[in-house]
Amino acid sequence: MTKPIMKAAITDFLPTAGTTIPASFAIADLGCSCGPNTLFVVSDIISIIIDLCNATKHELPEFQVFLNDLPENDFNTLFSSFLPTFQAKLSEQMKSKYGALATLSCFFNGVPGSYYGRLFAQESLHFVHSSYCLMWRSQVPQGLEGNKGNIYIARSSPASVIRAFYEQFQRDFSTFLDCRGQELVVGGRMVLTILGRRSDDPSSDECCHHVNLLATVLNEMVSEGLIEEEKMDSFNIPYYTPSPKEVRWEVQKQGSFSVDSLEVSKVDWSVFDTSFDPNVVLKDREYGMTMCMRATAEPLLVGHFGGEVIDEVFKRYRAHLADHMSKQKTLFINVIVSLKKIT
Ligand SMILES: C[S@@+](CC[C@H](N)C(=O)[O-])C[C@H]1O[C@@H](n2cnc3c(N)ncnc32)[C@H](O)[C@@H]1O
Repeated sequence: MTKPIMKAAITDFLPTAGTTIPASFAIADLGCSCGPNTLFVVSDIISIIIDLCNATKHELPEFQVFLNDLPENDFNTLFSSFLPTFQAKLSEQMKSKYGALATLSCFFNGVPGSYYGRLFAQESLHFVHSSYCLMWRSQVPQGLEGNKGNIYIARSSPASVIRAFYEQFQRDFSTFLDCRGQELVVGGRMVLTILGRRSDDPSSDECCHHVNLLATVLNEMVSEGLIEEEKMDSFNIPYYTPSPKEVRWEVQKQGSFSVDSLEVSKVDWSVFDTSFDPNVVLKDREYGMTMCMRATAEPLLVGHFGGEVIDEVFKRYRAHLADHMSKQKTLFINVIVSLKKIT
């Protein structure tokens, strides 16, 4: 879904550089994670640039690829297992497209650190990408004492709690824009896909329900004495799913970027959705979503409640999901924004 948006952004960037396409084109993927999917986006970006250079008879630039994530990310596996396969595939693709002698100069760098701070030298990047990361806050906001029984924004959350989460998003996102504003060259592009919402209401089910189901499970376990109530009351997740309006407002306020496009897309919670794969086994629909939640929430839950409760939490979560998904269509909403560095 994001690929055409990246293609439009890169196409627009390259001609503005005229015949002086940068000799070295610097790409950063922020929050790259570690897995077989990590390098897909880099492959897409490089292919787009190669095709554009080919069509306009420009010489290929060298590529510098920066893969960023938090220092705890498994960069070792990324560079020792996934990168060599990726590099071999890339050079094969080059040869099949452009002949036996075609070569591609592509240099990979790992950049451990938080993107809510500076990561790169001034004006050293041409294209920044980030997917499914910027809904994570740099910290749990202050002032959530009134959010008892909830772990994120819920219908029963007081206005002060909703404001605290929103203000944390504003601080984080404007810091992110400040930093990238310094690191991108003028005219450079940034495409961000953020788990968000269409509604103006931050407590809307379309962005909160999957988290609130987790709160339901934890409350159930409190009532059965499996989790301490005080522990539950002091647990909140560092998260905020913005609306397109909120994203645009922060970009305008911060001032380093213009908005080229701002779109919303939908992804079904179920990786086994019938519209996605007609040969689905419907009784397994909730499995993918349970694993997705477990992959993201487990470190937070273990840090707060300890590791012993985890299997039980997700066994129950899966049952709640199955019930919910059997009753209604469930979607993730993505906010995809394409930005151009203007000053
Ligand atoms: C859901 S994964 C997304 C992975 C990949 N970009 C994708 O689209 O499949 C979110 C990633 O963001 C990273 N992340 C969260 N906060 C971050 C921060 N402040 N700085 C850098 N990476 C961060 C996490 O460590 C995790 O690897």
